[in-house]
Amino acid sequence: VGQPPPHAHCTSIVNIIMRAMWRSGEGGTLGSISGVPVWAKCCAIACGAPLVAYALLKNGVFSGSHLHPNDFDRFLVCEGEHPTGLPPPSAVKKKKKKSRSKGWWNWGLTKVAQQERGKVSGPFETFLKVEEPEHEDDSEEEEEDHRDPVDFNSFLKAAIPSSAGASQASQRRAQQQAGPAPPPGPKPDQARVLVMYGTEFGFSKEIAEKLCAKLRDAGKYWPVLEDMAEHPGGYDFGHEQALLIACSTQGDGVPPTEPRDFCEWLMAGKAGALSHLNFSVCALGDKSYQHYCRCGKLLDAALASAGATCITPRQDVNKEDWAAVNAWMDAAVAGLNKLELQPVGEEAAAALSGGAAAHAEPKAKRWGKSRPYPARVITVEPLCNVANKNDKVTVRVEVDVGIASGLGNYTPGDALGIYAPNSTEVVEELLGVMGVDGKEPVPVPSWHYTEDPDEEGAAGSPQGTTMPVREALHKCYDLRVPKAELFHALWAALPEGAQQKAEGAGQGSGNLEARASSGDEGAQAAVLAQLLAGGAAALDTYFDYTGRHVSDVLRTFPSARISLSQLLGALRALQPRLYSISSSPLEGAGRVQATIAEVRYEALGKPRAGVASAHVSSCLKPGDRVRVYIHKNPDFRLPQDPSTPIIMVGPGTGLAPFRAFILHRLLGGSADDSSTDGGESHVSGSNASSAALSGGSDTSSSANGSTANGINGNSAHTGGAPANGHAHHGANGSTANGVVNGVASVAANGSRDHGAPSGQGNGQYKGVGQMVLFFGCRRRDQDYLYGRDLDAWAASGAITLFNAFSREQDAKVYVQDRLRAQADLVWDLIHEQGAHFYVCGDASSMAGAVEKELLAIFAARLAAPGTTTAATTTPSKKAAKKKAAAAAKQAGEAACFDGAAAAQRYLEGLSTSGRYQRDVWYT
Ligand SMILES: Cc1cc2nc3c(=O)[nH]c(=O)nc-3n(C[C@H](O)[C@H](O)[C@H](O)COP(=O)(O)OP(=O)(O)OC[C@H]3O[C@@H](n4cnc5c(N)ncnc54)[C@H](O)[C@@H]3O)c2cc1C
Ligand SMILES: Cc1cc2nc3c(=O)[nH]c(=O)nc-3n(C[C@H](O)[C@H](O)[C@H](O)COP(=O)(O)O)c2cc1C
Repeated sequence: VGQPPPHAHCTSIVNIIMRAMWRSGEGGTLGSISGVPVWAKCCAIACGAPLVAYALLKNGVFSGSHLHPNDFDRFLVCEGEHPTGLPPPSAVKKKKKKSRSKGWWNWGLTKVAQQERGKVSGPFETFLKVEEPEHEDDSEEEEEDHRDPVDFNSFLKAAIPSSAGASQASQRRAQQQAGPAPPPGPKPDQARVLVMYGTEFGFSKEIAEKLCAKLRDAGKYWPVLEDMAEHPGGYDFGHEQALLIACSTQGDGVPPTEPRDFCEWLMAGKAGALSHLNFSVCALGDKSYQHYCRCGKLLDAALASAGATCITPRQDVNKEDWAAVNAWMDAAVAGLNKLELQPVGEEAAAALSGGAAAHAEPKAKRWGKSRPYPARVITVEPLCNVANKNDKVTVRVEVDVGIASGLGNYTPGDALGIYAPNSTEVVEELLGVMGVDGKEPVPVPSWHYTEDPDEEGAAGSPQGTTMPVREALHKCYDLRVPKAELFHALWAALPEGAQQKAEGAGQGSGNLEARASSGDEGAQAAVLAQLLAGGAAALDTYFDYTGRHVSDVLRTFPSARISLSQLLGALRALQPRLYSISSSPLEGAGRVQATIAEVRYEALGKPRAGVASAHVSSCLKPGDRVRVYIHKNPDFRLPQDPSTPIIMVGPGTGLAPFRAFILHRLLGGSADDSSTDGGESHVSGSNASSAALSGGSDTSSSANGSTANGINGNSAHTGGAPANGHAHHGANGSTANGVVNGVASVAANGSRDHGAPSGQGNGQYKGVGQMVLFFGCRRRDQDYLYGRDLDAWAASGAITLFNAFSREQDAKVYVQDRLRAQADLVWDLIHEQGAHFYVCGDASSMAGAVEKELLAIFAARLAAPGTTTAATTTPSKKAAKKKAAAAAKQAGEAACFDGAAAAQRYLEGLSTSGRYQRDVWYT
């Protein structure tokens, strides 16, 4: 109020409030806003600004900056450059903060550090600010903000409509379903640029949105943002001139789940000739994966081969390397600038601006990642025998997803997505470091999944558009690895003069970080400067190898006080975790099971736990609700023909999907029947086959027995699996019978007729191809997951089992060693019998080691020279000479034969034909 209000709406609304205050005797001079005393202005702002801001939001005043009233996170990404695109720390001038009067922990309308560097994404208070129109008085210094702080809490309280309960919730649901407001229509002289993204976790979307903001800022472009997932059947590029793509790679080098159909459509050349199109691709990935940025590479190649013109080379981005992303965005804009793109034109602009304003009717969402199902926990059961703190802890969790949800209708190979909250300790730790009590209301970020308050079992659903910060930290934010933005905010928040001390600080004695945490400002500046200068790689190292959490970071820089809103703006979305489903849909109606290894470690002297694995194993109990969805995994499927042999390599929790595969086959299921048919019919069929398979065996006594031992933990529910009538009793006996040397187990019936596809040893599994499982763990008596089932299946001939108990003997033995020992069997099954080969589990070492072994097996066999018959008669001189020449030729060929290359080609062939499939992950 002490300066011309930044926006006309703002002016008039503030005026109304001020006048109203004056009329009620609280104001100052009659009719003159400028004459109002300072104390009254403060008062007016404190009481009125919340309403003003709310009114502005409600009235769509921010539409010029394309903000949705409830779209805090979109604001964070849209409103300017990414902070990592800012000048390096040395170039960032620290400016005076004039209005920080309420302390760093408050939601004050402070002049935030980012604003000093120009327009940037940032905290919520910036969201409330209105951009100054060009015609307004711009004489004031950029860093000055004459507005007085307001209490954001009261704003939010005032902002929430008074109608309570269901109407608030439905309002919020409608907002969630409607999504953010559509972008504005084009100006006639702007050129349309299509920006498409394909994402799994949101990074590509964030890039695409920033790119759109950049294009809008450039003035001459009208960016149109499209999610590939919305175009599963393809997209008509006929009228497009320029296409910029950001797309990640998922799984084992495949497109992200939802955009997959679109990607495959484009990769298959179905877009037709695109010689009129200019394009560039930003390929997101992670170098630790074997198929680095493969999806982006394939999209790039597909566009090029359709005749489109590349305006700047594809940028492959390792993890969240913003420097690379920003470089690509700059190059893409520069590339566009060189083109002579057709402007939209008057007519189209007029038509589009009308259409753009239209809101689509909100559609009811299906259960899925953005609307996870509140499943009821049936059981959480230990699968390991834990005697000391270093022992592995793995649990079997089973949830009820009901029949109506349709989620029980998954396909073996799919994963269960679990939304788990951050632990209370981690949340309280962060609240403590920030010095807030946790009740402060904060906006519900739009990435937060839909919580229907009226759905069965939903508890603690946010009402309206805010939630207490404690709840937000529990459910919405990743409290482990923040965005790089946090470090920029901390740098900017260092006290006056601290940044200048950075250079000298390195000279001091003692560990720089320890000195930083104990308050040495120079050391804090030095550590921050190092991290910022090192870019993405430095931050990767900073987090990856230490297990550091956000609260640890804040403790390292006690002098850099950032506000809660700045903190939230620098946190990532808490992601659901995936768990390979370890049950068959034929096992039980509407039930899904996962096998989860608890992640626990010590970091910076503190015990730490994995968010989801620890939540499931330590917090969930029967009857609780947990939010889940089914993550389809079309690249990990049983062969269509149930008689095709399969080889499965799955140590540790890598066993999970193979338990599902085995059970599914034994229960008579095929590769994808559950996804194509209605689930219920299968379910009833499954119960019948389950009963037939269990043959009336006393499964529950077996389960009890195993639980009593404290290992394996096969519940009564899983007991239907073993194939002969005495399955679990057989299991007990199988230790003597079928398990050889306590190390490698083979089917109880010993040698098998590998050639007979229906032959699972004892003839009970007609039509079921041979199933060979390589399993590995530490010790039989510690972490032999589902050991009784495995032994029982091996004993009955259902599977051929090779165990690698790594710690039961001096020399470590792993699944790849077992594989090597079974090279002939593996080759025979793959080469002669068309087996499919599957690997699941740890991507960091196991998957690579197994592949290496497999390649060695292939190389040896592909390189083997044909057998030569030894000569029985004395050859003539001429014949001897000829034979010697032939032998020399053969030896030469053998020497030239590149076994490794042939093996690689062979493996690629298997992979292309879907016979080599991997479901691997990094923990
Ligand atoms: C397709 C797919 C299927 C999967 N299936 C399964 C499955 O069937 N069973 C299963 O258990 N998991 C499975 N996972 C892994 C699972 O999704 C989670 O990644 C895993 O449970 C860890 O999640 P969390 O929330 O418990 O741990 P997080 O909170 O994500 O913590 C893990 C992080 O902690 C840090 N960390 C861990 N150990 C240390 C250490 N010693 N020192 C420092 N930092 C450390 C690392 O940064 C690590 O990334 C699967 C993953 C994928 C992608
Ligand atoms: C389960 C999983 C599998 C992945 N597979 C690959 C891969 O095969 N190749 C690759 O380059 N990156 C892979 N990545 C890394 C992602 O592409 C990377 O994290 C990317 O930044 C995600 O972008 P998004 O959020 O837009 O999906 C994988 C990530 C996960 C979690």
